[in-house]
Amino acid sequence: MPKLVVVNRDGDESTVEVEDGLTVMEAIRDNGFDELLALCGGCCSCATCHVHVDPAFAEKLPKMSEDEDDLLESSDHREANSRLSCQIPFTGDLDGLKVTIAPED
Ligand code: FES
Repeated sequence: MPKLVVVNRDGDESTVEVEDGLTVMEAIRDNGFDELLALCGGCCSCATCHVHVDPAFAEKLPKMSEDEDDLLESSDHREANSRLSCQIPFTGDLDGLKVTIAPED
């Protein structure tokens, strides 16, 4: 199974294996990272699934929607590599992707 590397807010890095069909948010949440609240359950309406993505994978990510862009704009921790993890389906192409859970807003 493809692997996702998750860095939590303390800077600790863990590698998780991701089942087919999950989003990056689901993979993080289902592996017990409860600091990623994902309050809206993946409907792109809360921004509590904000992550910073390894820039090396930028080209492989799906394009950002206007809604995602607007929500990220409301965060004090937006960076050039910010994404909402619920908007990234985890495919084999993203094997080895590293994401850092953004600080809480
Ligand atoms: S889980 Fe709410 S925007 Fe991603």
